[in-house]
Amino acid sequence: MFKSMMTRTLSVLSVCALIVACQKEEKSRINFPPTDLAKENFIPKPLKVIPTNQAFGLDRFTAIYTTPNVEGFSEVGQFLSDKIKAQLDLDVLVNSDSDEPVERIIYINQSDSLELDSPEGYQLYITQDSVILNSNTAEGAFRGIQTLRQAIPEESNDTLAEQRIWPIPTGKIIDNPNFGFRGSMLDVARHFFSVEDVKKYIDLLSYYKINVLHLHLSDDQGWRIEIKSWPKLTEIGGSTEVGGEAGGFYTQEDYKEIVAYAAKHYMTIIPEIDMPGHTNAASVSYPFLNGNGKTPKLYEGTRVGFSTFDTRKDTVYAFIDDVIREISAITPGPYFHIGGDESHVTKKKDFNYFVEKVEKIVQKHGKRMIGWDEIATANIDSTSISQYWSSGDNAQKAVKKGMQVILSPAKKTYLDMQYDSLSKHGLHWAAYIPVDSAYVWTPEEYEGIPMENILGVEAPLWSETISNIDELEYLAFPRVIGYSELSWSTKENRDWESFKVRLANQAPYLDRMDVKYYASPLIDWKKSRYTYEEINKD
Ligand code: ACM
Repeated sequence: MFKSMMTRTLSVLSVCALIVACQKEEKSRINFPPTDLAKENFIPKPLKVIPTNQAFGLDRFTAIYTTPNVEGFSEVGQFLSDKIKAQLDLDVLVNSDSDEPVERIIYINQSDSLELDSPEGYQLYITQDSVILNSNTAEGAFRGIQTLRQAIPEESNDTLAEQRIWPIPTGKIIDNPNFGFRGSMLDVARHFFSVEDVKKYIDLLSYYKINVLHLHLSDDQGWRIEIKSWPKLTEIGGSTEVGGEAGGFYTQEDYKEIVAYAAKHYMTIIPEIDMPGHTNAASVSYPFLNGNGKTPKLYEGTRVGFSTFDTRKDTVYAFIDDVIREISAITPGPYFHIGGDESHVTKKKDFNYFVEKVEKIVQKHGKRMIGWDEIATANIDSTSISQYWSSGDNAQKAVKKGMQVILSPAKKTYLDMQYDSLSKHGLHWAAYIPVDSAYVWTPEEYEGIPMENILGVEAPLWSETISNIDELEYLAFPRVIGYSELSWSTKENRDWESFKVRLANQAPYLDRMDVKYYASPLIDWKKSRYTYEEINKD
């Protein structure tokens, strides 16, 4: 213990010495034109930005150091280094003791400062010689490096110049999220999306500080996760999708890979098994589940509300126990989503009985139950969570029970709604949702739900009309970037006119990531922030 404290103190001291040495080393400073950190195109907008109008030069003499012996910090440093390498083809060493000359450092520092007493809060101090990122936790450091990444100019690598250097505006950033739960949902049931597709979505979401990905893993058209004790779910239930294509499913190893990838991005995966309705694929696989004595057929259409489990059969609950047990065992996050929406052919009293029984099973397996807003009609615990998608009445019922509510109102947050009548993909049963309408509303004051009952905001992407990553990106981007700001930034810091400009400047990043975003005509999209000549002129 003493030794590790000593190592840590010595190491912090040596980093401080390095910072002082860098400050003395006048020759290493580059005279960039004046900068303005407050004009950077950060999304989500940080709580406070105080510019000091100079520049930190990121180049091959920059090194990253992190607080030693604190879990996660060196990985966050390595993550930043990897992203810099991918963006700029620049090698920035992490915690290196090599003799390579170092002129400027980025120090990712674990701080116990009371000002940082929140898991995701961070402070960035950028001077000409150093970038110091303070946070209480590695999670806060991870959010902070996304801000730093957004301050690195997006410009091409194809320069022949010898000394490449990228200016980062100096100043101070103090930041902390408005809501701790900032999510998106992906429906992999109507159409299946591969592990690689999901990973790309995670990459993009985490750049904008979104920290929850809810996977809708089962529906009438498909069952998408291996359950070892019930193998036909995926053998039969996973064999098709909307439109009759091949479908697919995640093995438990695939799912673990997604969970681990999300964890590396400080993102929680929420698994959803939708029931008692939306269960045709399960009942095709195991016909005893629906209780009507008939074996249903695989379904490749897009109707809803025609299927139900038999809610009065013990064997159905034994099945559900196995499913929830197996998935919970490979889900480190605290939540299990039971669906509960649109059970139009389940009698009301059977529906409530079902939800109450399944809540107990979820709790038995150590998880907190989430369900779509209909679950609030049942007699459930205040620790369960209601996801508001359509019924204000149900949201109020949840509030009366003291439950937390996730805000996903379809007419504001459904990513599968078309932008307008010309949109290539999507539906419009709830609304057309252009980019401004997606952003201009106030979750803090939505439909009279008290702020203390709001867990956060989640933007669901249903996949009836999309079957590949390009189509997914068309519907999700740019709107999901707006939801990141709606859930991270305070009301006072949100403004459509400002957001519109910052969003326009996401184009070079989105292009570099090969995102097929919908280039809404409401936005004056920028293609490049700086040219190489602008950065390097005297
Ligand atoms: C839903 O859109 N059926 C939750």
